[in-house]
Amino acid sequence: MTKRTFYVTTPIYYANSVPHIGNAYTTIVADVISRYKRAMGFDVMFLTGMDEHGQKVQSAAVEKGVDPQQYVDEIAEVWKRLLAAFDITSDEFIRTSEPRHERGVLKLFKRMVEKGDVYEGEYEGWYCRFEENFLTDLQVKDGKCPDCGRPVERSREHAFFFALSKYEKPLLEHYDAHPDFIRPDYRMNEARRFVQQGLRDLCISRSVQWGIRIPGSEDYTIYVWIEALINYLTGIGFGTDDELFSRYWPCDLHLLGKDILKFHCIYWPAMLMSADVPLPKSLYNHGWLRVSGQKMSKSVGNVVDPFYLAKEFGSDTVRYFLMRDIQFGQDGNFTEQNLIGRYNSDLANDLSNLVHRTLSMCKKYFDAQIPSGEASDGALAEMCESTFSAYCRFMDDLDFRAALEAVWKLISTANIFIDRERPWALYERGEMKKLGAVLYDVLETGRIILSMLQPFIPSAAGKMLGQLGVLAEPGADLPEQARWGGLLAGNKIGDVSPVFVKRKQPKPAPKGEAAKDDGHKKEKKVAEQTITINDFAKVQLVVGEIKSAEAVEGSKKLLKLSVDIGDEIRTAVAGMREFYAPDEMVGKKVVFVANLAPAKIFGVESQGMVLAAESKDMVSLLTIDKDVPIGSRIR
Ligand code: MSP
Repeated sequence: MTKRTFYVTTPIYYANSVPHIGNAYTTIVADVISRYKRAMGFDVMFLTGMDEHGQKVQSAAVEKGVDPQQYVDEIAEVWKRLLAAFDITSDEFIRTSEPRHERGVLKLFKRMVEKGDVYEGEYEGWYCRFEENFLTDLQVKDGKCPDCGRPVERSREHAFFFALSKYEKPLLEHYDAHPDFIRPDYRMNEARRFVQQGLRDLCISRSVQWGIRIPGSEDYTIYVWIEALINYLTGIGFGTDDELFSRYWPCDLHLLGKDILKFHCIYWPAMLMSADVPLPKSLYNHGWLRVSGQKMSKSVGNVVDPFYLAKEFGSDTVRYFLMRDIQFGQDGNFTEQNLIGRYNSDLANDLSNLVHRTLSMCKKYFDAQIPSGEASDGALAEMCESTFSAYCRFMDDLDFRAALEAVWKLISTANIFIDRERPWALYERGEMKKLGAVLYDVLETGRIILSMLQPFIPSAAGKMLGQLGVLAEPGADLPEQARWGGLLAGNKIGDVSPVFVKRKQPKPAPKGEAAKDDGHKKEKKVAEQTITINDFAKVQLVVGEIKSAEAVEGSKKLLKLSVDIGDEIRTAVAGMREFYAPDEMVGKKVVFVANLAPAKIFGVESQGMVLAAESKDMVSLLTIDKDVPIGSRIR
């Protein structure tokens, strides 16, 4: 029987710099999904790679005084090392400077031309050379690019355009007919709003040298974004290997960060429609990793190096932390302290405790042989079964945090079971049959837990399964592995040593007298009543502009607002209907809480909050009195 296929992609990474933990995040997510799907019996294709053309890369190469090809060859090696550092099991690595990519790009471009969707014209407007982006008057503030802050220039040139506007209606129809096409649903709304505001044809030529030439043109290359998107086809043989391509296309899941939604959820499907290529099944837009509440950036100096993390804490720990601590889809906060906290409590304490102490008891009481579980009451077996089905549901829904929470509930139940049954006391009383059943139940539960954890912490799960004496290939046939009864009585367990050992949490420096008794209590009380600067930094406040306001159906108090916060438009529900007419709010620049967890209020998904001052009979919006750009951080 042929296996069902599953094709998952990450964005391809810019070759103009080395990776940071934010880039590693998407790749780790893709790897967890790939390992899970393989274990569930799918024929998986996991594609990642490098975006190597364009102005940014050309400039970086010039700065280094090397040829762009040599430059990207060197950077690609660094990215490949990242894959190895995090045990990434990608199947294909596409680089856009490869000939196979160029062949596929030209094939797709030709189809778009043949459709009559590419035309020549004249472009006039603002241009940011660094971002290779054309900008409207509204986007340019003080002559600067809204994305990189560099000065923009007025440009008037001959150019090639893609008839994007023609796809306005087909895109909206596709969104309506496929509610899971763009996920989470609030990102679908964002894409829909963007299209509904009207699409303009897209300028798809650039005069940058380092790129793929537009056929028949000496002077122009294809806009790097248009060319880069096509990697999802060329990476699996479009234009070079028809059999491979038809095996995996259409793609099951494109993973991407929320910042590149417009390119993936609007331009990409429009290009595919134009070229008569079936659309991908789903695009998932995840949130951003921030560091101590702040955007990661070189200028702030808070960029987290993934190689350092892998070396210092191990790949499994970083993988586990990112998948467990961050609600997939939403922004998340990275701090080393949180990472160590999770490591200690979840991995070194809960998981390692369960597996290690059970194995030690098996060694001590049963001469390292799996005891018989005949006398078991079956309670843990039942819980393993229900946990596995919840786990699969959550994994299929890409809710990794919930999947791990379900597994951890099982871990904690098994730990409580040991404490309650007190195997050491059973041994002392010589109740060997009961002792055997208790230990078998916990060993077998541990085995099933580790099978479910294998996609997240592959190396540690493999080691621990080895200690349990399990010979199965890691990641083999998960439904089979999750079935109760895999451990056979009489089999020998392997070496017993803890895989995760507690780490010291770096202590904040003691504060003078606070370390001493008397002052200590007072200090503690003050600490309870106050928040630290780090606590405050967790609230991400930005300048937003209210674009529209309307009453929420069924509520006398609520207004539904659309708020532009710079890189996206958010919907927020505010209880201000009694104090503001909707029109009165439009155009106001307000203080917006951008990292509030989304909540459904009267059926509307609210993705943040506008701040207001409140007295007994009045509510007043907090507005910004100077012309600060939308999206500016408020501290
Ligand atoms: N080259 C383009 C993608 C082209 S795909 C046809 C690009 N590259 S990137 O290297 O800048 O970003 C790659 C991915 O990393 C994007 O999904 C982006 O959202 C993600 N991240 C970059 N910084 C991030 C965080 N701080 N946190 C999480 N993901 C982030 O865009």
